[in-house]
Amino acid sequence: MSITRRAFLDRCGRMSVALALGQSSHPGETLSVRPTLDPNTLKPFVDPLPVPEAVRPDSIRADPETGAKVPCYRLAMREIETQVHRDLKPTRMWGFGSASPGPSFETRSGEGLWVDWANELPRRHFLPIDHNIHGAGADKPEVRAVVHLHGARTRPESDGYPEAWFEPGDTRQYFYPNRQDAAMLWYHDHALGINRLNIYAGLLGAFFVRDAVEDALHLPKGKYEVPLILCDRSFYPDGQLSYPVATDPKAPWVPEAFGNAILVNGKLFPYLKVEPRKYRLRVLNGSNGRFYHLTLSNQQSFHQIGSDQGLLGAPVALKSLVLAPGERADLVVDFADQRGGKIVLKSDAFTIMQFRVASESAQDSSALPDTLRPLVRIPESAAVKTRLLSLNENIDFYGKSQIMLLNDAHWQMPVTENPVLNSTEIWSLVNLTDDSHPIHLHLVRFQILDRRPFHRFLYQARQQVVYRGAAQPPSPGESGWKDTVQAHPGMVTRIIARFEGYTGRYVWHCHVLEHEDNEMMRPYDVIAGS
Ligand code: C2O
Ligand code: CU
Repeated sequence: MSITRRAFLDRCGRMSVALALGQSSHPGETLSVRPTLDPNTLKPFVDPLPVPEAVRPDSIRADPETGAKVPCYRLAMREIETQVHRDLKPTRMWGFGSASPGPSFETRSGEGLWVDWANELPRRHFLPIDHNIHGAGADKPEVRAVVHLHGARTRPESDGYPEAWFEPGDTRQYFYPNRQDAAMLWYHDHALGINRLNIYAGLLGAFFVRDAVEDALHLPKGKYEVPLILCDRSFYPDGQLSYPVATDPKAPWVPEAFGNAILVNGKLFPYLKVEPRKYRLRVLNGSNGRFYHLTLSNQQSFHQIGSDQGLLGAPVALKSLVLAPGERADLVVDFADQRGGKIVLKSDAFTIMQFRVASESAQDSSALPDTLRPLVRIPESAAVKTRLLSLNENIDFYGKSQIMLLNDAHWQMPVTENPVLNSTEIWSLVNLTDDSHPIHLHLVRFQILDRRPFHRFLYQARQQVVYRGAAQPPSPGESGWKDTVQAHPGMVTRIIARFEGYTGRYVWHCHVLEHEDNEMMRPYDVIAGS
């Protein structure tokens, strides 16, 4: 099996994946295998953790739904140079403004805002485009981008449809109503066929929605609330990003890309000086394909208080947490008993970052309440429709490589999922592959009903689900509102959603970006009721 297949099998990164593959950034260039940097040769914990700054509005515009005056931001996608580690030369990346991750949005529920997303990128891509991929043919401009606000309830024309990409020199005006609960959302590129490269290049950032329910909890805030945006990357010794390309011309695409080094807010192995008190950590897995299995080196437990779409009903005490690409976890970690300690955040064998706890005692007036936000479970009886949707991995026409599909359908095929506005549906995700896929629906938030093992071969033979075990409820940490769900292999994962908000065309897809670009993404329509 090829190296790409090996990378494909490595999910939680128990072994460090050899991404020492060649990279050809220009058509016709000979593939050369350049060794990548071994990140363990870098001294860890020499750079302080950067915290993205808050983006500032620069004008006022009308909310198209209420007419109210709301802030308008302008954010440009640009090529930047950034130092990811003290001992590395600056890395070329793409960011928003002058940073990757881009600046954070801070906004309140119910207060809409406009963003003028400007594409000021160069016209050449610095990562290897695979023209075999749908929507990324050589007839398309090399550099194109479109921004999606992940987790937002947004009109379709502002949702960043994958085909709504625009070229350098162009700007799009998107409106975000923010009529939804407090949560950590995130913005990122969504351009068809090159999304994995654009995000790998750095086109992502955080977007916080706040509300009165959250305020009333007195959770740690200000400098005691810290976003941790995790992105795995591989680098060449000269500090430049390495993205794998397939070396076998008959297997032209790379089904997954794993970096061997983990950026936190754009730095490798950063440290954060903390006081011996509670901190609120807003963790986002912004990686292309890596699942994190997060633990603290001192085995201390922490509390999860929220997930993708906001606060849980009650805090959940944990010692470890699995976070798939696209998912967020809202954590409270109490360093009160760790004065003078040095605690490393890890993901299995990977070192992520270090917390350095001050030895002086600290004030802490923040709270970790016993209950957070009342959570009403959607009853299954509310669903007017159940859709059986398979997750497929097929051998493609090249005979060697795989193709990932949803319900065996390609991107260009007619829409098959068309829920009625304000109706509730159950989507049963029948995973026929050997992998976990983080499935994300635009527009809606949902709840996980359960996961249940089924007979794969019987399903393939008869298109019928025959269960082979009991249904498993979601873990407490994923029992709140979600927008991305881990659909495990050999399981039917059922989610329930009310399709609220707007009618129009949205997408649902796997958030492993290589899968998404390789057609594990489908359009869906929310249609008006009769
Ligand atoms: Cu995080 Cu369709 O996106
Ligand atoms: Cu997938």
